[in-house]
Amino acid sequence: MQNETVIVLDFGGQYNQLIARRVRECNVYCEVMSYKNDIEKIKAKNPVGIIFTGGPNSVYDENSPHYDKAIFELGIPILGICYGSQLVAYSLGGHVATAPVSEYGKTEITTSDSLLFKDVDNNTIVWMSHTDYIDKIPENFKITAYSKDCPCAAYENAEKKIYAVQFHPEVNHSVQGQQMLKNFLFNVCGCKGDWKMSDFAKRSIEALREKIGDGKVLCALSGGVDSSVAAIMLHKAVGKQLTCVFVDNGLLRKNEGDEVETLFRNQFDINLIRANAQDLFLGKLAGITEPERKRKIIGEEFIRVFEAEAKKIGKVDFLVQGTIYPDVIESGAGDAAVIKSHHNVGGLPEHVDFKEIVEPLRDLFKDEVRQLGIELGLPEKFVWRQPFPGPGLAVRVIGEITEDKLAILRDADAIFRKEIANAGLDRSINQYFAVITDMRSVGVMGDGRTYDYTLALRAVTTTDFMTADWARIPYDVLEKASNRIVNEVKHVNRLVYDITSKPPATIEWE
Ligand code: XMP
Repeated sequence: MQNETVIVLDFGGQYNQLIARRVRECNVYCEVMSYKNDIEKIKAKNPVGIIFTGGPNSVYDENSPHYDKAIFELGIPILGICYGSQLVAYSLGGHVATAPVSEYGKTEITTSDSLLFKDVDNNTIVWMSHTDYIDKIPENFKITAYSKDCPCAAYENAEKKIYAVQFHPEVNHSVQGQQMLKNFLFNVCGCKGDWKMSDFAKRSIEALREKIGDGKVLCALSGGVDSSVAAIMLHKAVGKQLTCVFVDNGLLRKNEGDEVETLFRNQFDINLIRANAQDLFLGKLAGITEPERKRKIIGEEFIRVFEAEAKKIGKVDFLVQGTIYPDVIESGAGDAAVIKSHHNVGGLPEHVDFKEIVEPLRDLFKDEVRQLGIELGLPEKFVWRQPFPGPGLAVRVIGEITEDKLAILRDADAIFRKEIANAGLDRSINQYFAVITDMRSVGVMGDGRTYDYTLALRAVTTTDFMTADWARIPYDVLEKASNRIVNEVKHVNRLVYDITSKPPATIEWE
């Protein structure tokens, strides 16, 4: 059975993935499709609603994206957002012009009677970001909201089920934006909200079972959320026909290798090969200080080790990839078959003999992958794991990587993570870890002078990891972590907290 589907028609705006996520949060399945897809492709999806997204252009620019006007005749409800709302006006005989006053940021609008504004206050705050505005709406439409500088903040033709808003209901700053989206989905499109993770899991597992038959499946397991959930899906589908290869490169966090092994081998009873390649990696990295060189070596070695293990298994039919929906969207709005450019693992192995790739998470956003993980019984600790870079601790040991420095870093990092969790900050801070710098300085301990390492603590909040802010951790939490680290970890006598945002710094130190 197919889920009711909403199409998010992508005109290139920055919040387009967010719109899709918001729709899914209402338990309505949706797909992002570029405006470059013709109307037949959209019709083939049999959507119950279409949302036109924002975009960076002006509708009257020569090269701005437009859409086949036949879309307005399909009888499918449409919601235009920002650029999308201007495009609806422009396409149906209205007029768009440069606004005398651009609006940017939180703006109060006044709404009037509309299905879109059911259970929404008459005066409500929304997020505006536009320099053009609609100065004439199409015939048979009515204005349903305005702001001080925008006479047409929303307009509609309820009979034709065409709605449009100049603002962005999908961003959090639009206080009742989610209610408006819900109104569109449930009251205008008549959605039932049938997108449930438990059904998705059941159906996907059945589909995987059918596709794979009695074939053999190989999965590179890192212990991260995506590869863990993908592996469990496959295991539920085909059991022992799946083999997971977990490469221990010696650059994992404290106890991590053993935890991954215990969980997947003992708890889930998955065929797991743990390749203990610690010495190999550290040998190759000896004396290397240049960050990109470290990354390259680790990527190459990973492939080599993985291929060697795969060779032992022999020919496989399927290789599992943990591609998730944002990767699919970013690579061309769901059209192209994509393979995640996994800087994690340095690309796809070239010498593994397989027929086909399976991507069980291809339709899911990251938060849905976590939900699915919970559904499948993955322990919370794994479900909520913070992102960990493929090169592991190598990019958190500044300068040469040695066993000694790694041991110091592991202990300090474990303490910091524990204190963040104790303070209940582990879900609100998106990434947090320790770094061992290549610097030593003088300290005093008891009666003696010390000359030991300086470690840095790094913690950031971010939504996309492209930009990030340093986390305002309460001083007492920092104090506790710092005290514990210098007292409990030998060869550390100084802690600093990194207070740079990204940009100009990066999240990792290397
Ligand atoms: P930066 O340091 O570039 O990191 O601000 C952004 C995000 O990417 C992760 N990261 C990596 N992940 N291989 C990975 O798989 C890498 O080489 C790598 N470098 C950075 C980093 O942890 C952060 O989440």
